[in-house]
Amino acid sequence: MDFFEQNDLTTKANSRSIISLFNNASRVQNFTVKAANLCLDYSKQNIDEAELKALVSWAEASNLSKSIQAMFFGEKINNTENRAVLHSVLRSPLNIKQKVLGEQAQDVLQTEQKMAEIVNNVHQGKLLGITNKKITDVLAIGIGGSYYGVKVGLSALKPYHVPNLSVHVLANIDGAAVAEKLEKLNAETTLVIIISKTFTTQETMLNAKAVKEWMTSQSSSKKIIEKQWFAVSSNIKKVKEFGINESHILPMWDWVGGRFSIWSAVGLPLALAIGNENFSKFKQGAYAMDQHFQQTPFDQNMPILMALIGMWNRNALKYPSLAVLPYDHALRALPGYLQQTDMESNGKSVSKEGKKLCWETAPIVFGQEGTNGQHAFMQLMHQSDDIIPTDFIVALQGSSQYQENHKILVANCFAQSEALMQGKTSQQAIDELIHSGLGSDEAANLAPHKTMKGNTPSNTLLMAELTPETFGSLLALYEHKIFVQGVMWQLNSYDQWGVELGKKLGNEILAVMDNASSSHSLSASTISLIKAFDEKSN
Ligand code: F6P
Repeated sequence: MDFFEQNDLTTKANSRSIISLFNNASRVQNFTVKAANLCLDYSKQNIDEAELKALVSWAEASNLSKSIQAMFFGEKINNTENRAVLHSVLRSPLNIKQKVLGEQAQDVLQTEQKMAEIVNNVHQGKLLGITNKKITDVLAIGIGGSYYGVKVGLSALKPYHVPNLSVHVLANIDGAAVAEKLEKLNAETTLVIIISKTFTTQETMLNAKAVKEWMTSQSSSKKIIEKQWFAVSSNIKKVKEFGINESHILPMWDWVGGRFSIWSAVGLPLALAIGNENFSKFKQGAYAMDQHFQQTPFDQNMPILMALIGMWNRNALKYPSLAVLPYDHALRALPGYLQQTDMESNGKSVSKEGKKLCWETAPIVFGQEGTNGQHAFMQLMHQSDDIIPTDFIVALQGSSQYQENHKILVANCFAQSEALMQGKTSQQAIDELIHSGLGSDEAANLAPHKTMKGNTPSNTLLMAELTPETFGSLLALYEHKIFVQGVMWQLNSYDQWGVELGKKLGNEILAVMDNASSSHSLSASTISLIKAFDEKSN
C-alpha cells in the first residue's frame, strides 16, 4: 500500500528490538487504551510513537470517518450484494433504531419481544413439549455465521447459564456429529431451533431433516414439530414448507450478515441459555464499544488502533498470520469464531470496485486457549523464523473457585508475551548453560537449540472479569477492527463469494456420485477419489 511503501518504515522497524522501545519511560502509559471495560496494552508492538502517529494521521486523512458513519447509519456499504451492514443497530437503544431503521424498527422490536417471550416461557415452564413435559434441552442447528456466535457465546458465558436447561449446537454435516448430539437428547423435552438465513444451506438442511426424522420417530404425535421447533430465517416460504409453525419463525434481515448475526434472533439459543437480562447486558457491552468506536479520536480509539497495528504487521512488516490466544477456558471457541469473522470478511484480493489489490489483506487467524497452545504450536512461534503477531486475552479474575490455577494461568499469559518479545540471545543461552554446569564447548554446541528469536509483537487485552457485558464489548471490538481494516484495504468485508464456489462444486460432485450427471468440470484426481468412494460403498 502506498502508505507503507512511501515511508520506508519497515527497514527501521525490522532492525530494532521491541524491547529497546521501552527506553521511552512513558511507553506503557502511552500505548495502553481503555474502553468499554476492556484494556488494551499494545506496548509490545514493534512500532514507535512517530510511526503510530503517522499511521493514525494516514487513517484520519482517509475516508474512514465517513465510512464509519456510513455503516452506522445504514448506507449500502456491502456493494456487491447491495445491502446495508447494520448488525450494530440491533444493540442500540430504541431512539437510534428508529432513526436508522425507520418503520423497520418496529419489526426489530417485535422480534426482540418475541425472543424474550420464548425465553421466559421456556424458563417458566409455560412452553412445554408435546407431552406437556418441561423443556430440558435446546438443539440449535446452523453453520458458519448461524453457528459460531452461538457456540462462542455458550462457552464464554457458561457461569451465567440458567439451571436445568442445556443448550447444544449442531453444525457439522458429518452423521457422527448428528448421532453424538441425538444420543444425549430426549425428543419429548427438546426444543429445536434451525438457524439459516437462506434456509437452503446443505449442512443445515440435511441435519434438520435427520433431527426431524429422529424426533417424529420418537413421538406418537405428528404435531411435535409444530410445537417444539422454531426457525430463524429470512426465507419464510421454505421454513413453512419444512413444517414449522409460522408463529415460530423469527426473522433475519438482509442488513445483518451471518457472521455478525449473534445480536439478532440468531442469539435465541444463547438467550435461552443465559436468560433475557444477561442477553441484554451482552448487547449493552457491545453498544458501549460501538459508542467508543464512533466517538473517540483515532489515536485513542481501541478498534482503530488494533486495526492499524494489525495492518502495520501485515502490510509493513509482512507478517502473514495472527495468533489469538485467550488465556481463558471460557473463550476457547473465540479463535474459531474470529477465524470466520476476520477471514471470511477480509480474505479478499480485489477492491470494492473489483480491481486487483496490490497489498496483503486478512491475516491467517489461528489460536487456542492458553496454556494448551504453549505445549503445541508455540514452539514454532518461539523458534521458527516466522514471526507471528499475537493477541493475548485474559480476565484478571477467574470464574472458578480455583484461584491458584487462575493466578498461574495469568502468569503464563504474561510470561508468553514477554518471552515472545524478549527471546533469548545465543550469548544468554551460553551463559545459562555454563551456569548450569556445562563446559564451554558443550554450551556453545547446545546454545543454538536454546536460542529464541524474540521480537514477536503482541497485544494484551485485559478485562476485570468475563461477564456478558465484557464479552459483548470484546466481540464488538473485533467486529470494528475487521471493519476498519476492510475500509483501509478498500475491499468489501461483507460478502463471501469464495464460499459459494465450494458449495456449487459440492453439489456437482454429489450429482456425479449419484450418477445423476455425467457432465462435470472435475479433475481426474477428484474423479478417482469418487471412484474410491463408490468401490467402498458398493
Ligand atoms: O459459511 C458460509 C456462509 O455463507 C456464511 O456466510 C453463513 O453464515 C453460513 O454460510 C450459513 O448460511 P445460512 O445462514 O444461510 O444457512
